[in-house]
Amino acid sequence: MKKTVVLLSLAVLMAVSPGAAAQKKTDGVRPPTMGWSSWNAFMLEISDAVIMDHADLMVSTGLKDAGYTIVNIDDGFFGYRDAEGNMIPHVTRFPNGIKHVVDHIHGLGLRAGIYTDAGEMTCGRNYNKEINPAPVGIYGHEEQDAERYFNEWGFDFIKIDYCGGHRMQADEEQMYTNIRNVINRVAKHPVELNICRWDYPGTWVSGVAESWRISGDIRPKWAFIRNIVAKNMYLSAYAGGGHYNDMDMLALGYNKKPSPFNDNLPLGLTYEEEEAHFGLWCIFSSPLLLGCDVRYIPEETMKIITNPELIAVNQDPLGLQAYVVQHEGEGYIFAKDILTRFGKVRAVALYNPSEEDITFTLRPEEIDLAGPIKVRDLCARKDLGTGSSLQMTLHGHSAKILRVEGRRRLEQTALEAEWGYCPAFTAIESEGGKYVPTPAASMGAAVYNLGGSAKNCLQWNDVYSAGGKYHLTLTTLPEKDAEIVLTVNGAAQTLRIPAAGGKPQKTTVAVKLRKGQNRIEVGNPDAALPPVDRVTLERL
Ligand code: GAL
Repeated sequence: MKKTVVLLSLAVLMAVSPGAAAQKKTDGVRPPTMGWSSWNAFMLEISDAVIMDHADLMVSTGLKDAGYTIVNIDDGFFGYRDAEGNMIPHVTRFPNGIKHVVDHIHGLGLRAGIYTDAGEMTCGRNYNKEINPAPVGIYGHEEQDAERYFNEWGFDFIKIDYCGGHRMQADEEQMYTNIRNVINRVAKHPVELNICRWDYPGTWVSGVAESWRISGDIRPKWAFIRNIVAKNMYLSAYAGGGHYNDMDMLALGYNKKPSPFNDNLPLGLTYEEEEAHFGLWCIFSSPLLLGCDVRYIPEETMKIITNPELIAVNQDPLGLQAYVVQHEGEGYIFAKDILTRFGKVRAVALYNPSEEDITFTLRPEEIDLAGPIKVRDLCARKDLGTGSSLQMTLHGHSAKILRVEGRRRLEQTALEAEWGYCPAFTAIESEGGKYVPTPAASMGAAVYNLGGSAKNCLQWNDVYSAGGKYHLTLTTLPEKDAEIVLTVNGAAQTLRIPAAGGKPQKTTVAVKLRKGQNRIEVGNPDAALPPVDRVTLERL
């Protein structure tokens, strides 16, 4: 468990620091949902007893106090539809119906969640040997189910899956938008909606749901954690304003009772893997839904999932998702603002997904801070001291979440393409991908397949500047000559980019930036763009 920590030019060693959790919370956006969901531990073997016991456990274990307030009944509660099409719960799993289960959950001061499918069938019906063939998905019963689930039974949250919708080959944007509209019209109280269609659905989704899955189902194995992080690390521009990329349920807590998903492995993740998994879900502002049998959570896992300083990073009032600020070798560093936008305190993750140790060096200017930096390890809940930079060695399969405070905030001088927002982006339809690992590009990634329509552009909507005149350098990877329209705060100019055999090509122009936030866009409504690597800004 040896971990080397060096703060170079150590200036002061702080004995006490308030830590993120102790800071006063300002009003912010609705934070990611926290709670428990039944599928990964119980699959179809749920019952009123399982759900109500878990509600009780949320209180008795202290999880409710730590912030886990949703108890979600996933797939498997369905029985059949009666002659009028009303949903009747499974008669042996919920012999006394559903309402008393919801009342029990509410009686404990918790919120209740339910599950459906945008199409006619749920995933359990399609793939998990649920033999009752009744069409229990919401399709064609939107009003009726909304009335029953939210007004009659009283649910506060709904996860809407897509196995049935997928089978119907329906237009998912239309389907989910219709469901949202019906819920808004019918439900007598606010309902939170989670879309589950296993890839980032498209920019329409933030107008429809509070969160959406970006990947297939998680399992308590490192490869799943690594792959989900790899999928989400370039999606930071698509979370915000109280809407979040959902990295799926937490796969912690399986070390005493294996998950039915564990493919015959006796144990779940190692301690360091669990710590990394939780910390990364926190800094990426994913919903935090426990997926294990809460009765069997080991003490050390309980400590990880109730760590108030990590939870504060997840529930931060700004509601931002971390993005890649350094990628060297196989290691990554992620960062996001916490508490104050463009303030001098940031949350940072050092992440080693590889099999070997990695020594990280974090230089303050990489996270737009002027040094020296004061660093707190939020996993260990320990101050590490103050220095001109941070060096830390991490084992393979691990991550450290840090609170880093600089002397002051610096203006942005680099904008990676991977941080940009594309109004036309949908992971499902983006052929060959948009955010693509590219060794020749800075931080190893570039954005592809832009251009050809006004919306298929790349925007940095929040560029923080001291204001004034700058040299803006756009780096692309052009195979052939191209034209790019660069728009800075509404003022457009066309850049001619000569072919460079797919190698990095820099194009520099003079621009004016405002003090504070600026908006920079690259695109071409009429023609394809070469892959875009980054923009750098140099004050004149
Ligand atoms: C999957 C979903 C799982 C679970 C399951 C139920 O599509 O990703 O989280 O809800 O369906 O059948």
